[in-house]
Amino acid sequence: MPQTKNRPSASVLVVFGGAGDLAWRKLIPAVYNLDLDDWLPEHFAVIAVDIKEMTDQQFRDHLEEGVEKFSRRGKVDGEKWKSLAANIRYHRADFKDPASYESLCKLIDDYQREWNEEANQIFYMAIPPQLLPGVAEQLGTQGLCADPEKSRIVAEKPFGHDLESARELNDLLRRYFAENQIYRIDHYLGKETVQNLLAFRFANALFEPLWNRNYIDHVQITVAEEVGVEHRGGYYDHAGALRDMVQNHLLQLLCLIAMEPPVSFDADEVRSKKVDVLHAIRLYRRDEVHKYAVRGQYGQGANSGSNSVGYREEPGVNPESATETFTALKMFVDNWRWQDVPFYLRTGKRLPTKASVITIQFGAVPHQSFPRMATTNWQPNRLVLSIQPEAGIRLRFQAKQPGLEMLLNPVDMIFNYTDAYTIDPPEAYETLLIDIMLGDITLFMREDQVRAAWQAIEPIMSAWDETPSLDFPNYGSGTWGPEDAEALIAQDGRKWVMLPLLQKEQKRS
Ligand code: BG6
Repeated sequence: MPQTKNRPSASVLVVFGGAGDLAWRKLIPAVYNLDLDDWLPEHFAVIAVDIKEMTDQQFRDHLEEGVEKFSRRGKVDGEKWKSLAANIRYHRADFKDPASYESLCKLIDDYQREWNEEANQIFYMAIPPQLLPGVAEQLGTQGLCADPEKSRIVAEKPFGHDLESARELNDLLRRYFAENQIYRIDHYLGKETVQNLLAFRFANALFEPLWNRNYIDHVQITVAEEVGVEHRGGYYDHAGALRDMVQNHLLQLLCLIAMEPPVSFDADEVRSKKVDVLHAIRLYRRDEVHKYAVRGQYGQGANSGSNSVGYREEPGVNPESATETFTALKMFVDNWRWQDVPFYLRTGKRLPTKASVITIQFGAVPHQSFPRMATTNWQPNRLVLSIQPEAGIRLRFQAKQPGLEMLLNPVDMIFNYTDAYTIDPPEAYETLLIDIMLGDITLFMREDQVRAAWQAIEPIMSAWDETPSLDFPNYGSGTWGPEDAEALIAQDGRKWVMLPLLQKEQKRS
């Protein structure tokens, strides 16, 4: 969390879909932690808007359970929770009914009157994407977002289903909101370790001169999940790994690795530099997509020591589903810095472990001065940026093995967050919520970024939508995806980096 920032001014956080999972697991635990860390404004309230019948007290009890379960701080501090919960209201409402918005408006006004202060009004859309246009329209027509300084709308991903629908959604939002009132969330951008990518690249002189096609052989970005689709089958079956993960999280990571140095940390400057990367991504013809993109769907298998069902047996999933739960891609960023450097991306559910890791693989030395015997174990330099669950950086280089002979061995220099810092880093949603209250839009997706990201994957999406895979399921739960994913990188004489990398056992060995 940016320690240099001031606390935000009075804010009302209105959560549409407040009785749902996102508020329970992420938003309210984040609010609770912000409160513990003294980041919330003196005047702060949450109004949850949802269709279920519930009293304020029932709702607060439900949220307390969520905080207890999901807050990084573990057990709830009773007194602290009580004072926060007193400012959490449940507003039962039909999203389609204009009267719901009139009463919401009154609730917000009541707070402002009580505080004798105009508050930031944050309308957080924690609702299924198909409901977003209706709610945004009501907010617009009822004038709830009329103040461009104070009112903000927060849209969760997916922002649209493809380029066309993203454009339509954006046109609708722009009818009522200015661009800087729209906070499009990609929660990866709020992660500490993801923000550290910018610090690592642009606060150090050491790596930037090497950060280009002259020294880097290739880049790998892996976002592996151990879990399956859990209770989100209904949504996921219409999305798939490409739309759910690549279009947003993986491409944003790619942007942070590939972007040019920003002139300043002004929101639009940083976002413009990222959008340049998206525009430079090579677009494949549909008939060549199979050479660069692999898809997979998990079947049954052993995961975390227990047997797990295949994707098609998950609740809410079509038993004949052709949706991919795994994607591996080879991408190119066609510009001066990166021409012909492959970026290998892969993400999937029900893989052997949870790990988000970026690997920068440097090229070979131009000339081997050492005798052949000395270098049998030689490996090129490699920089591993580990985002989660281990958080750290590891740089591999060659060292002389102790002894009378000249034998070279790869060794690792390791920076591990947990060893270096004692403070518990904030969750992504804590950072993002405070930024929304402060009106800092740097970590949120601008409209053209979203569009460019859809454009970048459009050929793959269309090719896959048109020709459903015939061999699904093609990888077992608890494996690293289909064999074709290995072949995708092996055909270039390379291989996926083994994960996880930073674990203590490995450090010791
Ligand atoms: C979400 C996706 O955006 O990110 C989920 O919709 C995925 O399918 C999740 O599980 C992963 O987030 P994290 O923070 O656990 O890596």
